[in-house]
Amino acid sequence: MPSGSGRAPSRKTARQGPSRSALQSAIHGVRGEVRFDLPLKTFTSFNIGGPADVFVTPADEEDVARLFRQAHGVRIPVFVLGGTNVLIQDRGIRGIVVGLSHLKAVRIEAGHLLYAEAGVGMPTLIKRAITLGLSGLEWAAGIPGTVGGCVVMNAGTRLGEMKDALSSVRMAFPDGSLRDLVQADIRFEYRRAILPEGIVVGARLHLKPASKGGIERAVKDYLRYRKATQPLTEPNAGCVFKNPGAQTAGQLVEAAGLKGEQVGGAQVSTKHANFIVNTGQASASDVLALIRLVQDRVKASSGVDLQLELKVVGEG
Ligand code: EPU
Repeated sequence: MPSGSGRAPSRKTARQGPSRSALQSAIHGVRGEVRFDLPLKTFTSFNIGGPADVFVTPADEEDVARLFRQAHGVRIPVFVLGGTNVLIQDRGIRGIVVGLSHLKAVRIEAGHLLYAEAGVGMPTLIKRAITLGLSGLEWAAGIPGTVGGCVVMNAGTRLGEMKDALSSVRMAFPDGSLRDLVQADIRFEYRRAILPEGIVVGARLHLKPASKGGIERAVKDYLRYRKATQPLTEPNAGCVFKNPGAQTAGQLVEAAGLKGEQVGGAQVSTKHANFIVNTGQASASDVLALIRLVQDRVKASSGVDLQLELKVVGEG
């Protein structure tokens, strides 16, 4: 469902979703919560997005596997909502949207391994690592996403990326099984893990013992830097464009004179030009129009084709 090219998608017309009976078969016996026609905006950091045909919050990893097997059986698309680096279009998402907010367990295992279920927030996991005196996640300070989202996106910053902390990834597969994939068997690209069809339900991270004070200092310093340079207090979806090379996307957008540029309720952040903020009532189509404007102006001023890092999903 994410847009394939780096360009912002244009508006489509038809709205075709699965039948209610197919949806009912897919969710049969699922123990978690099920809500039909649920607006998704409040589940995203952008505070933007139309409704899901059905939003399911499975009770645990087994429940995810059951739901996925049944949905696969009746060919209903399943989209797992991380909620932070995503733009859900205004007419929402057809099929099943899965929220993993009940997958919140964290276990310490032998050999300084930490197993975290996919719905654990990175900030929570970092706090836990500090308490346990385990180093290796400092690079992720300030990333608001979940563990599952960070695996799928191979989230990263200048200081590190998810692939370096991973030991294995636990996934639910279309046959309903739950299995671990070791890190060495997964190919990682810039902001993307190439995973088989399935749902990430957890990740095992290999960390190393270090002084709590040292880890805490590194995390605080980095958080301070991000607070100073990024619009963390306004609704946003993280960096919009991939860094294209020698010059960062933020530098190129600023050099094109686009800081503060606005379409409807969407604005290029005045603090960091690779962020778009929702000033209140932005629609997804406002954001997409602003993205196209930025891509066109940066192309004209520097010759660079900015590619989306943000995932655009659903129907516009
Ligand atoms: N800059 C500008 N104008 C701007 C923004 C930045 O000139 O509006 C300049 C800065 O002054 C600096 C350079 O660009 O010289 C780099 O800026 P920054 O340190 O903010 O890093 P970035 O490359 O823009 C990357 C990640 C961020 C991550 C930060 C901090 C990407 C696309 N971006 O940004 O990740 O938070 O480093 O580590 O990888 C994200 O993944 O959602 C994200 C925001």
